[in-house]
Amino acid sequence: MRTEDCELKIDAAAAACGLEDSTVKEVKRAASYRKSLKERFPEAENDLSFLPSQTVLELGKKENKAFLPEVIPALKQKAAEGKRPTKRDIKQIIQKIKHEDKPEGKPLPNGKYNVILADPPWRYEFSETMSREIENNYPTMDLEAIKQLAIPSEDNAVLLMWVTAPKLEEGLQVLNSWGFTYRTCAVWDKERIGMGYWFRIQHELLLVGLKGSYPAPQPENRLSSVIKSPRGSHSQKPVIVYEMIERMFPEGKYLELFARSNREGWTSWGNEV
Ligand SMILES: C[S@@+](CC[C@H](N)C(=O)[O-])C[C@H]1O[C@@H](n2cnc3c(N)ncnc32)[C@H](O)[C@@H]1O
Repeated sequence: MRTEDCELKIDAAAAACGLEDSTVKEVKRAASYRKSLKERFPEAENDLSFLPSQTVLELGKKENKAFLPEVIPALKQKAAEGKRPTKRDIKQIIQKIKHEDKPEGKPLPNGKYNVILADPPWRYEFSETMSREIENNYPTMDLEAIKQLAIPSEDNAVLLMWVTAPKLEEGLQVLNSWGFTYRTCAVWDKERIGMGYWFRIQHELLLVGLKGSYPAPQPENRLSSVIKSPRGSHSQKPVIVYEMIERMFPEGKYLELFARSNREGWTSWGNEV
């Protein structure tokens, strides 16, 4: 039977069963990708044949292809245990591989810095859901491990550190352990309500700590303490904050801790840069 005829029959059968067009399209795309996967990984054929369509489509995504040789056996293992491999499993397996590639303990940069921006990977012991959500994106750190980092700060320096609302107390502990004294904070208004247990959280705090006597911004460079900027992808902070810091402290020797991207004029440290 020609492919077009076959597709017409599938469409007719789907219509008779009351299936949505989008479902049929998804199944068709999954069927075609399933076929190419079977060719690449013949040994996994039996397991692939009952992977849900959405899982197969996730495997087919460009960014996931490089990890298939490790992902397929892990899914196979899950299936062998009688569990249904999901899209979420694929994400978790890939995250694990990425984290293993970049072990913890990357040395902090040499040199000394006087304007330091930090966005620590806080761990949420009290909330399994929140921890899992974060751990799916990047590894978190134990509070003591964050406190013990030997921050390469000059004797006179300013620290700007992101803390989520529930982590305020821990944030202050870290700030002190790193040799800074709390001075003030700004608030990032994410302009859209999020999840939360006490409040539906829409903000994050940017604590400011001082070590020694680093000068405060000149009056014309003192900016509003409310940063209005929409949420980006998971944990991503607004880019405007770099511009604010550069304006507030134009003479700074800038260091970003736990960075996920590089910025000209800054030293960026973190396991993803
Ligand atoms: C909250 S995110 C930073 C987000 C970043 N500010 C942004 O705007 O995209 C924390 C970062 O710390 C990294 N990280 C976790 N454990 C680390 C470790 N032991 N050493 C270095 N970086 C680590 C995570 O992988 C993640 O990139």
